[in-house]
Amino acid sequence: MSARYQVAGTTAAEISASIESGIRSAALAPGDVLPPVRELAARLAVSPATAARAYQELRQRGLVVTAGRHGTRVRPRPPVASRRSALRPPTAPGLRDLSRGEPDVRLLPPLGAHLAGLAAAAGEPVGYPAAGVLPELAEAARERLAADGVPATELTVTGGALDGIERLLGAHLRPGDAVAVEDPGWANLLDLVAALGLRPIGVPVDDDGPLVAGVGAALAAGARALIVTSRAQNPTGAAVSAERAGELRALLAGRSDLLLIEDDHAAELARVPLHPLAGATPAWAFVRSVSKPFGPDLRLAVLVGDETTVARVAGRARVGAGWVSTVLQRLVLALWRDPAVAGLVDRAAGSYERRRTGLIDALAGHGLVAHGRSGINVWLPVDDETSVLTALRDAGWAVAPGALHRIAGPPALRITVSSLDEAEIPELAEAVARAVRPTPTPGFTA
Ligand SMILES: Cc1ncc(COP(=O)(O)O)c(C=O)c1O
Repeated sequence: MSARYQVAGTTAAEISASIESGIRSAALAPGDVLPPVRELAARLAVSPATAARAYQELRQRGLVVTAGRHGTRVRPRPPVASRRSALRPPTAPGLRDLSRGEPDVRLLPPLGAHLAGLAAAAGEPVGYPAAGVLPELAEAARERLAADGVPATELTVTGGALDGIERLLGAHLRPGDAVAVEDPGWANLLDLVAALGLRPIGVPVDDDGPLVAGVGAALAAGARALIVTSRAQNPTGAAVSAERAGELRALLAGRSDLLLIEDDHAAELARVPLHPLAGATPAWAFVRSVSKPFGPDLRLAVLVGDETTVARVAGRARVGAGWVSTVLQRLVLALWRDPAVAGLVDRAAGSYERRRTGLIDALAGHGLVAHGRSGINVWLPVDDETSVLTALRDAGWAVAPGALHRIAGPPALRITVSSLDEAEIPELAEAVARAVRPTPTPGFTA
């Protein structure tokens, strides 16, 4: 813990507020260790039960994490705005940044012409009564999903995939409930699970999706929800194969105690077929975001599922944010309907595929086994994340530590290939190989 930050307070609420304020002001940084309960209690002259309650409250809100003998620490990205511009350390200037997990904005469809088209066709301003899910968008989404074998009778629209997942978890689960998530998995989802006070149970993943035995173990451990990334799994690039989908469907069949959530975030970019689990359980939802293929700033995802699940999400939204603006819905519809945009998305998909497979092949040439069946990331298992990350940084490359994505899985690095030039691949592969297996310094050795 930063010795300079003095936690204050005499009640659990005051103590937790003091720690939260320390996080907000950046006096307490992600990873900082808080004092053990007894030590804090003695320092503040309160009972250990009071100090423990303060930590419990912060844990339930995802601000801190307690890991056995490692004590209680500030989470890597606690859900409170900090004065720092970003909680992830900024990439040093001059580094080629492959750490971000974002699509290449140069490959996103430009919006100008469609915005102009919308402006020209705009009718009366839309008031409360006429707002909600745009029927034309719902119809187009149903067609697109039906073509992929996803039943889409019940449908709503959310502000992106994570918004949809948050609403699903909020509607079905209570703080303390367990959620089965992929391990390694999407860092933002792990942060959301913590922020909702839910308990993550990691399910190991291979190139074909979540392992059946891992899902079985999570169910046995009491998971109330399971979140599966259909394709372009972040960070490994896994895509649920036909065989794995069949096995998982058989395992999940009839589980009325489980909410099944599928996240098909790369959809049009994935270049591998969808093998959905949709409908395997009575309570299910399938979320398809437009962020990766069409642009993260559109903030729109389509969510389909069984009647109860979709009604809960839509009903909860109605008493809160309301709906996703019909202006955005019209824009997405215009993008979907434009064959030139479909061509651009397909070109982006091809480009990501070449960069990804190019890097995996180049790493294989150096004897390194990396993963990435689909999407924009390559996942490289390593023995020691920090030393490889540091050596790569010294060689001019920034990549993401696997630690952001892992619960209990082994160390690895995530390399986002979306902005990588194909011409850069040999040099990057060489740098990675050197970082993984540094050449011993000539001269005296111990
Ligand atoms: C696994 C996964 N799901 C979904 C998304 C997109 O989320 P959103 O629609 O909230 O932008 C991402 C983006 O990185 C992702 O990695």
